[in-house]
Amino acid sequence: MNPSRYRLIVTSGPTREWIDPVRFISNPSSGRTGWAIARKGSKLFRDVVFISGPAHNRYTKVEGAKNIRVESTEEMAAAVTEAIREKTLLIMAAAPADFTPEKRDTTKIKRSGGELVLRLKPTKDILRGLDSLQVKDFIKVGFAAETDHIEENAFEKLKRKNLDFICANRVFQEREGFGENKNTLHVIGRDGTDKTIGPADKLLLAERLLQYLVKAID
Ligand code: CTP
Repeated sequence: MNPSRYRLIVTSGPTREWIDPVRFISNPSSGRTGWAIARKGSKLFRDVVFISGPAHNRYTKVEGAKNIRVESTEEMAAAVTEAIREKTLLIMAAAPADFTPEKRDTTKIKRSGGELVLRLKPTKDILRGLDSLQVKDFIKVGFAAETDHIEENAFEKLKRKNLDFICANRVFQEREGFGENKNTLHVIGRDGTDKTIGPADKLLLAERLLQYLVKAID
């Protein structure tokens, strides 16, 4: 693939699903991985659209990219769909919330003394929702944070979500080199090819991941 002809869309960070005006469901994703990919991509691709949920402040903007801030999984899905064109590489590095409250209270839920039962419904699966899109030269790359049987679980996810590649990493591995921010990625293709990148800092990992994808995609 010639990256100077392609748009790169990177999603990053967590999303938030509000329960009431003072509480939400989310996860601790910092947004560093997506930010690093978009930053390295801005030097390679025709243009970069960086779609970030409420991540750590310093990881929500990339110089030279079109920066879009979203809050919920639904908003992220809409922003992704809107940004897709012919010749697009989409890298879903975000950790969108998988569940949302069935109803959102407009006033703060009071501590009434008893138990509180929260009914949740699944959010949209953004990647699966793109299945029906008929766009030429549109490549989808997902991420999979796994705790065990990393390659096996990731490959199953690649098939389930109809992806071209999936980048699997072991969660909690970051804690190993405490403070070093080092990570290892297994980039698995549709045909089962499995390339290990790292261990390396997330910026170097991002650069090598993009170099690998650019080479591996026709
Ligand atoms: N993803 C998505 N839409 C969601 C949730 C996740 O498109 N609502 C994307 C993520 O950005 C990632 C990939 O799907 O690229 C895999 O995410 P993950 O959370 O590992 O998968 P899930 O579908 O949530 O599967 P499970 O919870 O069963 O592991």
